[in-house]
Amino acid sequence: MPRSPLIAPSLLSADFARLAEESQRVADADWLHFDVMDAHFVPNLTFGLPVMQAVQAVSPVPLDCHLMIEDPARWAPGYAEAGARNVTVHAEACTGDPRAVARDLRAAGSLAGLALKPGTALEEYLDVLPEFDTLLVMTVEPGFGGQRFIAETLPKVRRARELVDTGHLMLLVEVDGGINADTIEQAAAAGADVFVAGSAVYGADDPARAIAGLRARAAAAWQG
Ligand code: DX5
Ligand code: ZN
Repeated sequence: MPRSPLIAPSLLSADFARLAEESQRVADADWLHFDVMDAHFVPNLTFGLPVMQAVQAVSPVPLDCHLMIEDPARWAPGYAEAGARNVTVHAEACTGDPRAVARDLRAAGSLAGLALKPGTALEEYLDVLPEFDTLLVMTVEPGFGGQRFIAETLPKVRRARELVDTGHLMLLVEVDGGINADTIEQAAAAGADVFVAGSAVYGADDPARAIAGLRARAAAAWQG
């Protein structure tokens, strides 16, 4: 576990006409979550590499790129080369061995992340996870911000935490979707290290206060 919970505001809920200012409004966050959607893997379309590069150039916070796209082996390394801290691909979108993507990402200088949709079992990917640095447990169906947290995904978070704590895996456990002041404690108590929050941060009057509040709640839940 990192020393304090990592909070990653999602730009999906920001004002797309003001991405530079929006990245600066969350300067005290740990990572800035950047949701890439291709209208194929998910039924929504957002932004891609040129926009990521523009944000990367001005963001005070390292970028956490979440690729909800087909053919991630082809596109993911570009985000690492552009300077992302972490690049996450969906296990369900990998047509080849996800470990090859992880190796390319690490070689390009980023952390490598593997994401699982709510219905995807962790056990299917235990053999590939040793080559990843982060595991993103989706706590909503990927595609849209502002959805309701699916508590049925928590056993997957608990299982991942157990595998890390017993030394079987070495990675950060990240949760994404429906994380807010009411749900973050459950996710933290289940063992998440990194918390993505879109509407809970950008929908708040004071994003900096929202980030501090989320971090404090998660830290309190870690203590038990
Ligand atoms: C959903 C995205 C999330 C989204 C979360 O597919 O992966 O990162 O921005 O938004 P909230 O926190 O509003 O659920
Ligand atoms: Zn995301």
